[in-house]
Amino acid sequence: MAVATDSGFLKAANGHDTADGSLLEVRDLEKHYPLYGGVLRRQTGAVRAVDGVSFDVEAGETLAIVGESGCGKTTLGKTVARLLEPTGGKIRFDGRDIANLSGRSLKPLRRDIQVVHQDPSSSLNPRRRVGAIIADPLKIHGIGTERERDKRVREVMDRVDLPHEFRNRYPNALSGGQKQRVSIARALILNPKFIVLDEPTSALDVSVQAKVIALLRELQAELNLTYLFISHDLSLVKNIANRIGVMYLGQFMEVASSEQLFENPLNPYTEQLLSAIPVVEREEEQLKPARVDLHGEPPDPANPPEGCPFHPRCHRRFDACDKVHPDIVETNEGHTVRCLLYPGDKRTAVDEYSTETERQALRQHDATTVQSEQRPDGVGPPE
Ligand SMILES: Nc1ncnc2c1ncn2[C@@H]1O[C@H](COP(=O)(O)OP(=O)(O)OP(=O)(O)O)[C@@H](O)[C@H]1O
Ligand code: SF4
Ligand SMILES: [Mg+2]
Repeated sequence: MAVATDSGFLKAANGHDTADGSLLEVRDLEKHYPLYGGVLRRQTGAVRAVDGVSFDVEAGETLAIVGESGCGKTTLGKTVARLLEPTGGKIRFDGRDIANLSGRSLKPLRRDIQVVHQDPSSSLNPRRRVGAIIADPLKIHGIGTERERDKRVREVMDRVDLPHEFRNRYPNALSGGQKQRVSIARALILNPKFIVLDEPTSALDVSVQAKVIALLRELQAELNLTYLFISHDLSLVKNIANRIGVMYLGQFMEVASSEQLFENPLNPYTEQLLSAIPVVEREEEQLKPARVDLHGEPPDPANPPEGCPFHPRCHRRFDACDKVHPDIVETNEGHTVRCLLYPGDKRTAVDEYSTETERQALRQHDATTVQSEQRPDGVGPPE
């Protein structure tokens, strides 16, 4: 069984080797927010919002990041786009180390990486007209004359299907979908390579959501854009993502292609997320894992549990789960999972806390796992 290590820059969590030149390579990324307390306002702890995340994104692909509220999705997106400074880890974009850039040296990166935020109502300045908002990045980077900028604004408004006369309106005069088109136009105006889409449709009605998703897909094909698509909704990303990373308490629990994740989820948390998706079609019902309710709330990221971060809510937990922290393990090419049912290098520690039946089941599973991505029988509570 290959272990996709959380450390080292050469072997990616998704199985890619950096030698093949991914557009974005992230290794062991951490973003901790310090907590201060007491009269002297000393640091008393930290919120471990992103806690050792590794992944690659190839040019032209969409990697979706999904997980419940507070799991660290926005922090991950902003840190990768270098709107936030990482606490630790490496970020390589287009062959350059960008984790340690600061101040002015970040400016060229702003042309290549853009962010579309969740709620256009709060991310667009209500006192500025739409034309000025969209042109802002050109002005900041000193690109073009007034006339050239106006021409570029019209071009980009055409691309996102916004009428030119909207240039003179204020954001509040626009619908939610139109405001999000303004955000997308602003993100496109500098011809970026990579866009972080942070829940770009969650503030919109379902019918408008579909149109914005269709637009994003068209733009991706037309402009060869690469997306990091953040969402709390697995069903939404199914059709837009090439691969999906499932995040919990600042860590990836599973990374797989969209098809693999939906057809053969390995991590119990992924199972619970899939199980929570409402089913319309009868055939889809048969594809879903048996219903396992997602109950309780995620733990406090300032005080994460010992062992597996998901163990307090896991329907498959066994004795080792609250004692041993699982590594990310590759079970098949491009499919990685963090779960002690796939113990990787933690075999000895897991054995120590397992019954003889569980040990045998895990060992038998190790021998077959490369050919067959199935959970080991005989470990954890009965289904
Ligand atoms: N500036 C900050 N200072 C301290 N803690 C923060 C800060 N920003 C976020 N957090 C905490 O970091 C954790 C991750 O937050 P983040 O916003 O990245 O999660 P999220 O997955 O995007 O959530 P949501 O789905 O609600 O948008 C949460 O516990 C949050 O309270
Ligand atoms: S390690 Fe244990 S608690 Fe964590 S997901 Fe796997 S079975 Fe559940
Ligand atoms: Mg968020």
